[in-house]
Amino acid sequence: MSALRIAPRAVVTGASSGIGRATALALARAGLEVLAVARREPELERLAAEAPERIRPLVADVTSADDRVRIREALRGEPLGALVHGAGVFPRGPLSGVSADDWRAAMATNVDARLHLVQELAPSLRGGRVLFVGSDAATTPRAGGAVYSISKAASLMLWRCLAVELGDEITFAMAKPGLVATDMLEGSLAAPRDAFPAGEVYEAMCARGETVAPETVARFFRWLLLETDAAELGADGWDIRDQHHHARWLEGPLYTPRGR
Ligand SMILES: NC(=O)c1ccc[n+]([C@@H]2O[C@H](COP(=O)([O-])OP(=O)(O)OC[C@H]3O[C@@H](n4cnc5c(N)ncnc54)[C@H](OP(=O)(O)O)[C@@H]3O)[C@@H](O)[C@H]2O)c1
Repeated sequence: MSALRIAPRAVVTGASSGIGRATALALARAGLEVLAVARREPELERLAAEAPERIRPLVADVTSADDRVRIREALRGEPLGALVHGAGVFPRGPLSGVSADDWRAAMATNVDARLHLVQELAPSLRGGRVLFVGSDAATTPRAGGAVYSISKAASLMLWRCLAVELGDEITFAMAKPGLVATDMLEGSLAAPRDAFPAGEVYEAMCARGETVAPETVARFFRWLLLETDAAELGADGWDIRDQHHHARWLEGPLYTPRGR
């Protein structure tokens, strides 16, 4: 534990599945106490059972101001080493027909909650690190995926603005995980092609075996949060597919074909 660069405590949102779940486990196995946040209680309980001494489940909706207060209170004023913004939603369908509810849910989860959770936790985060899970969608528009893209673009700028304003006290990082084999990807593959033409792009990537396992993403995030120095971590955005850093954390191949 003495080798850690940050306080040995993390909050991981979106911890009930996919990238957030794998990241919560990886950080717990590295010795951190992890507050695992999501809305689905059974999934969080199953996660906590895998590392009961280190993972504390907290059923909370990151879009709720009251629930964000509960997240802060659950930390009991202890210093927080890392906040991982894993919670995310991906409404699919043409922008011309997007409902106000889908638009609001995407912005509330993928943008507003990230800002307000940082506001809530900033005093505990001094000297700590905040990781934004980024996406190619932030800079690449795709038919049927516009709402997600717009929210991810706003989140990208939120990351950069927070770094400008609070970067002296907290390190803000953004990392893109590639195409990851999670429920979110399954939702994209299952969506009707007329509403979500972009599904073809993801299907083709899957056919080429270009999917990353959540556990591989978690290893990357663990390395970023625990082993890089703050100046390097916050200097620019990270992409898991950039081979320059692979020798420092990746064991084996980057891609795990979906279903294996
Ligand atoms: N999969 C990919 O290829 C990919 C690529 C780039 C970026 N990402 C990003 O990675 C992150 C994780 O996604 P994933 O692929 O791991 O998908 P996932 O398995 O669907 O995970 C999404 C997580 O977000 C949680 N969540 C959603 N709304 C929430 C809310 N209001 N409050 C609390 N938790 C909430 C969900 O938990 P509950 O439903 O239990 O609340 C779930 O744990 C997202 O930000 C996504 O945009 C994914």
